[in-house]
Amino acid sequence: MFFSEQLISEIIEKNDIVDVISDYMSLKKSGSNYMCLCPFHSEKSPSFSVSSTKQIFNCFGCGVGGNVITFVQKMERLEFIEALKFLADRAGIEVNDTKNEQQLKKLDFYKALYRINQETARFFYSNLNKSKAPMEYLKGRGLNDNTLKSFGLGYSLNEWNSLMNYLRQKGYSQELMQKAGLIAKSEKSSGYYDKFRNRVMFPIIDLKGNVIAFGGRVMDDSKPKYLNSPETPVFNKGNNIYGLNFVKKQQNIENIIIVEGYMDVIALHQYGITNAVASLGTAFTENQAKLLKRFSNEIIIAYDADIAGQSATLKGLAILEKEGCDVKVLTIPSGKDPDEFVRKEGVEAFRERIRKSVSLIEYKIDNAKKDLNIDNIQDRIRFTKEFSSILKDLESNVEIDAYIKKYSNIMRVNEVAIYAELNRLKEKHKNGNNKHNIVNNKDAQEKPKNGELIAEIYLLNICMSDSNKAKNIFNMLNPESFTHSLNKEIAYIIVNKLNEGKSLNAGEIISRLENVEKQNKAARLLSYELPDKELDVLIQSSIDIINKSKITRRIEELTSKMNELFQTGEKDKANEIFNEIKELQRIRK
Ligand code: UTP
Ligand code: MN
Repeated sequence: MFFSEQLISEIIEKNDIVDVISDYMSLKKSGSNYMCLCPFHSEKSPSFSVSSTKQIFNCFGCGVGGNVITFVQKMERLEFIEALKFLADRAGIEVNDTKNEQQLKKLDFYKALYRINQETARFFYSNLNKSKAPMEYLKGRGLNDNTLKSFGLGYSLNEWNSLMNYLRQKGYSQELMQKAGLIAKSEKSSGYYDKFRNRVMFPIIDLKGNVIAFGGRVMDDSKPKYLNSPETPVFNKGNNIYGLNFVKKQQNIENIIIVEGYMDVIALHQYGITNAVASLGTAFTENQAKLLKRFSNEIIIAYDADIAGQSATLKGLAILEKEGCDVKVLTIPSGKDPDEFVRKEGVEAFRERIRKSVSLIEYKIDNAKKDLNIDNIQDRIRFTKEFSSILKDLESNVEIDAYIKKYSNIMRVNEVAIYAELNRLKEKHKNGNNKHNIVNNKDAQEKPKNGELIAEIYLLNICMSDSNKAKNIFNMLNPESFTHSLNKEIAYIIVNKLNEGKSLNAGEIISRLENVEKQNKAARLLSYELPDKELDVLIQSSIDIINKSKITRRIEELTSKMNELFQTGEKDKANEIFNEIKELQRIRK
């Protein structure tokens, strides 16, 4: 499906952002904007603002923002293209969704796989009462009828061909059964057999409600405990999360709890903890992290208390943090998993654990001190080292201070000793790892800390309010002069629009940016309140600042070049540069 720029513009124009958001929220007029409670984080007083003139939204509380497309993406949990289709439909815009033959064939194949899986799930469900064992087993694990139904649990009969025969009679080919991973070829004979036999069955459902795979559990201690569908064209383990289809249906989720197993999710849901999902025992992947983040930024990991669970916790934490999630760890007493815990201790005890879940840092610190004996000097040294190495990744000194105060007391180590160790590690890190420094510099650049950045933001916001002023600005200033990369990108989009004689609209400009992260940032940038000053004065002073900063940077460059030349004895060249610097300093005044 291809959406031309023109079509995207039409979709944005015909879906007024105030109208669209009013479909979901009740907006109140406030000055030139509309306000409401933010649908994407929980809050008590409204900080979610929608601008009709700019056609963008922005939450001052949690920082989300964007145009009408971004909003629909977030609200309906859609990909960019899906959101465009959604909005096109809403505005009655025809999009001819033409696909080539190959694509159509592939789609048909996927649909066939969804259908056969759905049929299979129905068959398994209808088997639940064909023998005593499955119901006894599931009831024995505390599940009620309602839960069995909403999770679509079932039973695969203790026979070699029952599913195969059933599906054949429904008209499905053996080839499709095999491709869906439901049957396998026998090694001894030429025949096929059902892969899942005598197991309680857990269908895995994707976000669109399609059954994409199954997990099946034995009802005794035999191995393997769980048998899962193989990877198929519609099922990629690392791209799916069990239970997310249920979480999707809820708005305003505060956080998502991620557990290891099917039964943990199901038990928690039955007890009313409906924001639990499972990563299904495999290593947690980046794609899973991205998927989760679409639903909530705050993720609580509640893996089993065993060694495997602990190491999975650390790995999962790292991946989720890298995606920018706010991760916490919920610990469960050893030997238990969330399912057993909630059944034994009750849901209030589990909720208490949620409240007491700790940040990654505290989890790591707790781990570091767990088996240590504070009366032993060697152990205290070990702790100091481990502790410092955990703290060195923290950026906030206030936080570092707080942890040092807390744990130096508990572990009876001297605060100064910890600071010394910390400094030593930081130095080592700085010298040994340039890459890290570059990353930090980039981060620093993103924060509007110098006048130059603010000046750029002012200019962009002025452009949004008045196309004529925008023309004036870019007659005086080359977009290349913008230092911050996103500002520069926006400046170029503006200049292109002006050249094409088009009007400027923040919502539309944002849609030209390639990803949601940029769109969020751009929405924030373009929602800046301008100071109460004559616009022309503001334009002039902003441009001055930008030009001067440019010169300053050039002077700095030349100065270091000059120093180099002096050192290598090339005095003439150095003098030449010195004169250039003096000239620049004169202009800068
Ligand atoms: P666990 O071994 O922690 O089991 O595996 P569990 O979920 O607590 O299972 P119950 O309570 O004994 O029924 C966690 C998850 O790892 C995957 C499954 O998704 C399981 O839910 N797993 C485990 C497998 O895929 N195969 C296995 O043989 C075991
Ligand atoms: Mn379990």
